[in-house]
Amino acid sequence: MKRKILSLILALTMVASLLAGCGGSSSGNKVGVAMPTKDLQRWNQDGENMKKQLEEAGYTVDLQYAANDIPTQVSQIENMINSGCKVLVIASIDGDSLGTVLDQAKEKNISVIAYDRLIMNSDAVSYYATFDNYMVGTKQGEYIEKELGLATGAGPFNIELITGDPGDNNARFFFGGAMDVLQKYIDNGQLVVKSGQVDFDTVATANWSTENAQSRFDAIISANYADGTQLDAVLASNDSTALGVANSLEANYTGNWPILTGQDCDIASVKNMIAGKQSMSIFKDTRTLAAKTVEMVDAIMKGTNAPVNDTSTYDNGTGIIPSYLCEPVFADINNYKELLLDSGYYTEDQLK
Ligand code: BGC
Repeated sequence: MKRKILSLILALTMVASLLAGCGGSSSGNKVGVAMPTKDLQRWNQDGENMKKQLEEAGYTVDLQYAANDIPTQVSQIENMINSGCKVLVIASIDGDSLGTVLDQAKEKNISVIAYDRLIMNSDAVSYYATFDNYMVGTKQGEYIEKELGLATGAGPFNIELITGDPGDNNARFFFGGAMDVLQKYIDNGQLVVKSGQVDFDTVATANWSTENAQSRFDAIISANYADGTQLDAVLASNDSTALGVANSLEANYTGNWPILTGQDCDIASVKNMIAGKQSMSIFKDTRTLAAKTVEMVDAIMKGTNAPVNDTSTYDNGTGIIPSYLCEPVFADINNYKELLLDSGYYTEDQLK
């Protein structure tokens, strides 16, 4: 008899936990996590880390990816609002496209955390958790400055520039940070941009797409470097664009491989780094960002103060959004083992 009761209790517990895991519960602790796309490795990692850490903290998670399609992301967020999520964590595809749907969240007292990318022109956003985007750019610029010896007057060197999607607010911070280091060397002639393409809109890459990056560089290289002219450096804001540049160099370029920057430490780019085809990549440990965001969710749920360390930088058009900025570091051939392998971020096999 006692055994029967015990198995009944066990069966009931299993059914209850299955129901909670389906995301259909109205237990009042459901968190919606909206990620932009599965195309880029980093967002898969971000989504998995968020889900794992939120569940460990006792929350039910509705995790969605939107295939880089804005209407899909809007309708996923609408579903999260209607299915009882109490907090939304959103990495937006386009920072300017969520105002209307987030008005609905605000009406229902649902808090919104902008994850990695700032959501613009919406007063429904309570917090912003990100890496210091401006610092990502300055570190890329400083890497080029140091490797070329620009501060000691070396040059002239040829450089080309590429950044990310114009709808992603981060792209302007990355590019702006890097140009705050490099612009003076362009102005004084130590750096020469042979293509003449220097302004943000010209060097932006729709959807951060590797293919778009590659075709722009195919054109740049055939017009300016196909005759053996040396290209000394490429400022690329992230790994998906750096990969496009590397593919194009491989196909069209015969000179010495340029210094090439990146960001995210995606596996393909770390492999390129090991093979000498990418010089560095900014490492943003997505486990750290997820952990900070979970602390924010927890504080909102418990009605306490969320951790923030910046209340002056990120104005989303409705005012400053209190932010937590994690610190990015750069990985290159000299320190990638310590940063990426010793820390358990990747296994050696993943990088083979
Ligand atoms: C992120 C980068 C990423 C890029 C493309 C940016 O908003 O901060 O880490 O490489 O989007 O997905």
